[in-house]
Amino acid sequence: MCAAAWLASGAAYAGNPSAGKEKSKTCAACHGADGNSPNTPDTPRLAGQHADYLVKALLAYQNGTRKNAIMAPMAKPLTLRDMEDLAAFYSRQQGLATFR
Ligand code: HEC
Repeated sequence: MCAAAWLASGAAYAGNPSAGKEKSKTCAACHGADGNSPNTPDTPRLAGQHADYLVKALLAYQNGTRKNAIMAPMAKPLTLRDMEDLAAFYSRQQGLATFR
């Protein structure tokens, strides 16, 4: 992974999955308790997604580069640390199987 991109994302803190689990309670209504049971077909699965992708997506909703009327208000109150914790939690859940 590119070190410059890593630094640019501000991701110096790796995230705490148990803190992320606590913070994910508001997200569970739509994304499912472990990010695996989206409540509608247009709600993405978060389980097993790369942590840095999740942080990047949340930052984009927060700063308006990714526009979505549902997720913008969800991302708005989050600090970078909240995003890192949430990302650490969801990225550790078993998602769809990938062949490597
Ligand atoms: C009211 C329902 C709802 C809630 C609550 C909700 N989300 Fe979402 N989330 C969505 C929908 C719908 C999308 C797809 C939006 C789009 O098309 O960009 C989404 C997209 C995302 C994405 C982008 C995923 C991808 O594959 O690009 C992330 C990350 C995310 N949500 C995280 C969270 C987190 C973290 C929380 C809790 C703080 C949360 N969401 C709360 C409905 C919700």
